[in-house]
Amino acid sequence: MVCIYYNIGLLGGLHNSNAPLRGASLADFPCMKNAYLITQQDYILEYGSMLELPFEKYPSAHRIDVAGGALFPSWCDSHTHLVFAGSREHEFVDKIKGLSYAEIAAKGGGILNSAAKLQQTDEQELYELASERLSELVQAGTGAIEIKSGYGLTLEAELKMLRVIKRLKENSPVLIRATFLGAHAFPNQYRDNPDSYIQLILSEMIPAVAKAGLAEYIDVFCEKGFFSPEQTVLICEAGKKVGLRPRLHANQLSVSGGVQVGVSLHAISVDHLEAMDEESIRVLGCSATIGTLLPNASYFLRMQDAPARKLIDAGAIIALASDFNPGSAPSGNMNGVIAQACIRMRMLPEEAFNAATINGACALELESKCGSLQAGKFANFFITKPIPSLAYYPYAFGSNLINKVVLRGKEIQ
Ligand code: NIG
Ligand code: FE
Repeated sequence: MVCIYYNIGLLGGLHNSNAPLRGASLADFPCMKNAYLITQQDYILEYGSMLELPFEKYPSAHRIDVAGGALFPSWCDSHTHLVFAGSREHEFVDKIKGLSYAEIAAKGGGILNSAAKLQQTDEQELYELASERLSELVQAGTGAIEIKSGYGLTLEAELKMLRVIKRLKENSPVLIRATFLGAHAFPNQYRDNPDSYIQLILSEMIPAVAKAGLAEYIDVFCEKGFFSPEQTVLICEAGKKVGLRPRLHANQLSVSGGVQVGVSLHAISVDHLEAMDEESIRVLGCSATIGTLLPNASYFLRMQDAPARKLIDAGAIIALASDFNPGSAPSGNMNGVIAQACIRMRMLPEEAFNAATINGACALELESKCGSLQAGKFANFFITKPIPSLAYYPYAFGSNLINKVVLRGKEIQ
């Protein structure tokens, strides 16, 4: 079926190229005012100015009057921990009372708390919880998403998480990428013998994940008190051998060397980057590795934000993602993420849109399928209420401006 969306007040994200945007080019978010867009089945067919609306070319097309609203490519959220068993608002209160992220982790909270809950939760329930969260994100404009394991921390529980992600892939219109994150934290029983957990990851988990074809990527929390740069290299090299490309949690709590490790491993991305020195900024700026910023986490943990402006000036490729997880970022809403990027990190609205669409798609290696409005890509977009300008969207940060969501050419109710 052909659908013509007409009377679009602002059509945004009209990139001709799928190359990731860096430096000054990040501020170029091509838009057209007063436009139409045509879809056929799952895909975008063409777009243009309302002055050339081709109704007569498609006489039997379904016509949708957008009534002056904006139409933007769906968000591409390249870093989430969407599959988890339960919330952790007790830690939220502990943080209000002054405990740090590291102190909460040391008390046996944090990731290990989520792992204990997840190990006891059955697969069907985990699937239902995750599926409900994903539906909520779809309504908030997300059309592509990366989801990590990492709350299992045993072979069986990690595989359980990855099977849940596989089911989400099969049953959701959202484009989904799966990442194996067995190296998220050391389980308590390995505290005195961390090397044997590394061995478990290398000799059992990675081969089992690869054999079952359950992940595209491998991730490591490269951080003081978690996994060292050396351990990160060992794990990622083993992953690479079986086709799992690295993407890392790097420089979240300290200048951990994670950025340098990620760049030398040719990681698709290094994510977080709250703790950056000049050298890490320079190294990332000269690389093809994407720097994924997660303002939800720094906001929620009351930490300094990643130095977005310095990274952009250094030429780094910047993506924005939600980090949706129960501990450091209990929201997957990308509308909030771009608003925070503008407000707290001083990214321009155009830069934030690009970082959360085309550059996010590049971080998911899905740039040929989504991330911009281009003929032949999936018809994945959302339509807003009429807005006076692009900048209004992050400016009006508390308003839900989305009127309609379309994924693979179909309106999501
Ligand atoms: O990306 N930093 C490591 N992992 C998550 C937090 C996980 C948790 O606290 O449960 C993050 O922020
Ligand atoms: Fe994360």
